[in-house]
Amino acid sequence: MPVDAIEGQLYLEYTRRLTEDLLDKYLPSDTVPPQRLHAAMRYSVMAGGKRLRPALAFAVYKYCNGDVVNNIEIIHLAMAALEMVHTYSLIHDDLPCMDDDDLRRGRPTCHKQFDEAVAVLAGDALHVVAFELMAKTGSIRAVMELAEAIGTSGMLGGQMADVEAEGQAVTRDEIVSIHKRKTGALIRGAVRIGAILAGASEALLSRLTEYGEKIGLAFQIIDDILDIEGDQKLLGKKIGSDSKNQKATYPGTVGLEMARRDAARLIDEALAVINNNKEEDNLLKYLARFIGQREK
Ligand code: IPE
Ligand code: IPE
Ligand code: MG
Ligand code: MG
Ligand code: MG
Repeated sequence: MPVDAIEGQLYLEYTRRLTEDLLDKYLPSDTVPPQRLHAAMRYSVMAGGKRLRPALAFAVYKYCNGDVVNNIEIIHLAMAALEMVHTYSLIHDDLPCMDDDDLRRGRPTCHKQFDEAVAVLAGDALHVVAFELMAKTGSIRAVMELAEAIGTSGMLGGQMADVEAEGQAVTRDEIVSIHKRKTGALIRGAVRIGAILAGASEALLSRLTEYGEKIGLAFQIIDDILDIEGDQKLLGKKIGSDSKNQKATYPGTVGLEMARRDAARLIDEALAVINNNKEEDNLLKYLARFIGQREK
């Protein structure tokens, strides 16, 4: 295995553990009232997961020479906030009124383990804690960035379009628009927040935004492919959810072969954006390739 790949794996393992420590630190204790709500938040957040959005934010923060000696807490807060928002979106996405799924991260979904009311509230509560943490970074721009990523022009708009497209034939442009918003926007946001907190120049921010957009769209195309041909054990969620719900999907729109090709092309384009032939490029390139090749 090339050294870069080993270093990349070690990096993901390191940020996964770091993120879990941070989440444990910033989540309210389940011994404090309302215990059942706090227990449900912890149940879904601490269930594992790739922790990819925090890993991206931290990698970009370092790439942009963010201060990891005197100012590490700002990126730690952002990493935890990103993962909490992501987990909130998963809890709500799995609800009976949305995708009606009963397995997530290898465990019963939040509404199965607790109940629907608790799952709605746990998602809401994670959403609130996430903004509280992002506010603690002291960066209004980072807070605005998170709001934009997950609001009606981003993730929530995408989730709305995803629900409306159930049972409908969509064009390639339409499925691209859904995927860019429902999943791409938060990944793009994670990249941009890492850069903003590091104080990156506007020119660098715009290059990294392009990188985030490409890997974000590729991420959801691959999620759709894995829903058809992935391994349920590895994924920790049931495959076939999209066809069960008659979802508009990328492979359903353009075919599996073309979906694979488009995802690979997006990853290549992301790699081309990060191309200074500098040592520091390697980690962002590794993360893009990881997204392109992931099986979970
Ligand atoms: C799953 O996200 C939901 C999508 C946005 C496609 P991940 O594949 O990142 O899920 P975890 O966090 O690793 O469980
Ligand atoms: C999820 O898309 C997007 C968000 C949660 C915002 P999916 O519905 O395809 O995600 P999975 O497959 O359930 O993880
Ligand atoms: Mg969904
Ligand atoms: Mg779903
Ligand atoms: Mg899916």
